[in-house]
Amino acid sequence: MKIGIGCDHGGVVLKGAVIEAITEVGHDYYDYGTFGQESVDYPDYAEKVCKAIINGEINKGILICGTGIGISIAANKFKGIRCAHVTDEFQAQMSAEHNDANMIALGGRVSDEISTKAMVKRFLETEFAGGRHKNRVDKILRIEEKNFN
Ligand code: RB5
Repeated sequence: MKIGIGCDHGGVVLKGAVIEAITEVGHDYYDYGTFGQESVDYPDYAEKVCKAIINGEINKGILICGTGIGISIAANKFKGIRCAHVTDEFQAQMSAEHNDANMIALGGRVSDEISTKAMVKRFLETEFAGGRHKNRVDKILRIEEKNFN
């Protein structure tokens, strides 16, 4: 699979662990920035990776900001994106198995390198269970179509 990575300055240090995990699982990674410690705005990097998924350039994405919160909120504004903000391996697994998440968001000021690698691997190695979970994801898609305001 092709895995996109996007982060702000709060996630740039943890990105190394994400890259290690992706390559150890045997996937290719595509880094959409940011690349330095200079302060940037996390929605810009969420947008780059979400558009790459929507355009079919990549299959899944890993986002990182300071907490994982802002960048996940931004990502979930894009049609077709299901981004789960996760802080442990179980959540990472469930996001793929039950929610068919195509992205996870991590906190560079929340998670350490060991748990980050475990979360990324679990997310990438877990298949969507389908069945009743598909019905629920389909309902999310229908909400997205209606775009209530
Ligand atoms: C940036 O300082 C910080 O607000 C951002 O990385 C993130 O934690 C927002 O949710």
